[in-house]
Amino acid sequence: MTGALKASVTALELAPDQLDFVASNTESLDEAALDADARPRAVMAGDRVVGFLMYEAPADDDEAMIYRFMIDRAHQGQGYGKAALRHVLEEIRSLGHVRQVSICYEPENEGARHLYRAAGFVEDGLDEDGEMIANLVLPVQTDHP
Ligand SMILES: CC(C)(COP(=O)(O)OP(=O)(O)OC[C@H]1O[C@@H](n2cnc3c(N)ncnc32)[C@H](O)[C@@H]1OP(=O)(O)O)[C@@H](O)C(=O)NCCC(=O)NCCS
Repeated sequence: MTGALKASVTALELAPDQLDFVASNTESLDEAALDADARPRAVMAGDRVVGFLMYEAPADDDEAMIYRFMIDRAHQGQGYGKAALRHVLEEIRSLGHVRQVSICYEPENEGARHLYRAAGFVEDGLDEDGEMIANLVLPVQTDHP
């Protein structure tokens, strides 16, 4: 990610009551700089940055995890979250080695629950930190031998 893109990502904002739902983008980018498995992605609408997400999909693991996901407060409710999720799931599927994708969110985060459930994620229960874990089993690829 270029410096300019990083600056746009760190400038994205959430509503005050959403701040506890996800780490700040500054924190996530700092973390990504130190973690070779982290795949940070800006969510674009044309040439405008409207959101940010981050996932990992280590080559030696058939599970991927999307662990950051946000759309700027001014751009929420316009379908960008749904489109970004569809896009990143397609990117993960095209890696070829991932069979299951996990995602986690605060149990009271109805927006996240709605978005992920509609994409096919199935809730698996709370982890030790009280976060809801939901999983999506990817269809087996048949277009490659
Ligand atoms: C969750 C989030 C990423 C959704 O992004 P978005 O661009 O607003 O979502 P979309 O406009 O694509 O809407 C997707 C669906 O979720 C629904 N939705 C969005 N926010 C909602 C809310 N607060 N409560 C209930 N449903 C909600 C939409 O109605 C839509 O449903 P539909 O397809 O049945 O009409 C965004 O609200 C956000 O950044 N929230 C704060 C950070 C966060 O919670 N991140 C997830 C932590 S893992």
